[in-house]
Amino acid sequence: MHPDTHAHADAQFSATRNRLDALLRIPSVSTVPAHADDVRRAARWIADWMTEMGMTRAEIYEAEGRLPLVYGEWLGAGETAPTVLIYTHYDVQPADKSDGWDTEPFEPTERNGKLYARGAVDSKCHVVIQLAAIEALLKGGGAPVNLKVLCEGEEESGSEHIYAFVAQNPDLLRADVCVISDGSLPNEHQPVLDYGLRGIISFEIHVKGPRRDLHSGHYGGSVHNPIQALAEIVAQLHAPDGSVSVPGFYDQVAPFTDEERAVLAPMHAPFEQEWQDVTGAPAPWGEQGYSAHERIAVRPTLELNGIYGGYIGEGVKTVLPSTAVAKLSCRLVPYQTPDHVWECLHTHIHALTPPSVTVEVKRMEMGAEAFIIDRTSPALKAVTAAYEQGWGVKPLLSREGGSIPVTAEFQRYLSAQLVMMPFGYKNGGAHSINENCDLGMVQKGIHTMLHFYRALADG
Ligand code: BES
Ligand code: MN
Repeated sequence: MHPDTHAHADAQFSATRNRLDALLRIPSVSTVPAHADDVRRAARWIADWMTEMGMTRAEIYEAEGRLPLVYGEWLGAGETAPTVLIYTHYDVQPADKSDGWDTEPFEPTERNGKLYARGAVDSKCHVVIQLAAIEALLKGGGAPVNLKVLCEGEEESGSEHIYAFVAQNPDLLRADVCVISDGSLPNEHQPVLDYGLRGIISFEIHVKGPRRDLHSGHYGGSVHNPIQALAEIVAQLHAPDGSVSVPGFYDQVAPFTDEERAVLAPMHAPFEQEWQDVTGAPAPWGEQGYSAHERIAVRPTLELNGIYGGYIGEGVKTVLPSTAVAKLSCRLVPYQTPDHVWECLHTHIHALTPPSVTVEVKRMEMGAEAFIIDRTSPALKAVTAAYEQGWGVKPLLSREGGSIPVTAEFQRYLSAQLVMMPFGYKNGGAHSINENCDLGMVQKGIHTMLHFYRALADG
């Protein structure tokens, strides 16, 4: 590697910042069909940059009815050098200024070293960090490792295309190390080595009562109100101790060993600080017997994401509604399978249903299993060294509560050592208003990747 690679990355950083700005202007919202062409435009933008910086292959793969994957490679380090596969996603969650943003979500604005826009932290900063690091290497004469990059355009909307792509292209994706670059550090200063993510399953409960909305004076008290029935059902899904009271839900959960409890213990204090800073909730809550960090790291959950029914407009409407709906999702941990959890959920919800209403439980997506990697792999040692050099702070070991659906498929189909390299931060407002990334962290992220490639190449 050219000795000036780090200097090169710094010299081009204002151009890198402008690249991030340009990518953030493309509203690549994968969850809204009307934005499909914007997602395609973002894919083209990424492929064009790959070509321009000298990657030898930059292709867009788009399956019928799905959103594109971008694949790029540079294999100039030779057959004896390690090969690294980088995964990121360039699609984003929906956003509208009226949700409460201070500025337009797709017009990036810089304030106090942070760039505010939808997708800044989740996850376009990762796309740009990864490509800028490769650009610095290629412009400096070449990389010490072979590079493959896979950017997904529907991570936020179910990831279905990439499941088949990974299963069908093990040769294209063959690598010694696979880096999943997404996610967040607890704050700007503290790097973490994430060695796991939770899985997910999403579903809806539809409750039906009377044929149509009724006058609540004519029939109220004689018909079981669907909103009330739904509330009664969902209120029975947790026990008073905060655990999920769905029979069988915990059947497949991996035991939490004393050894792992000790490994994660140093995360308690930073997580509690982060919890105070980010949530603003009046008091902690959760399953008895676990610390706040353990509740998100090693325990599964059942969460209400939305609930609606009846009249929610201004003023009074004395209506007895005919339907009510709740949207729910469960975070899963090793070794729960979405299919088993789904069986437990719909069986139990039907068992809780009184004869006075009818209930339909709908599974929304395939879901994803949790993901856990080897804490002792050589690749993780290289990640540790890279964050220490990039941040000047020793990283803590952690498991994350979020989900990246494709990770379990990587584990199933690729023989590569898997590692995670997050460069976002928890106060970045992912999925929320005023999403932002810290430009200092973007720059450190680029240097961290350069250190990582060096460490891998040096073995
Ligand atoms: N970047 C997140 C995943 C994440 C969150 C990783 C926290 C590490 C820490 C990703 O973009 C995301 O939001 N995933 C969704 C997946 C879902 C839509 C299937 C999630 O976790 O809700
Ligand atoms: Mn996300």
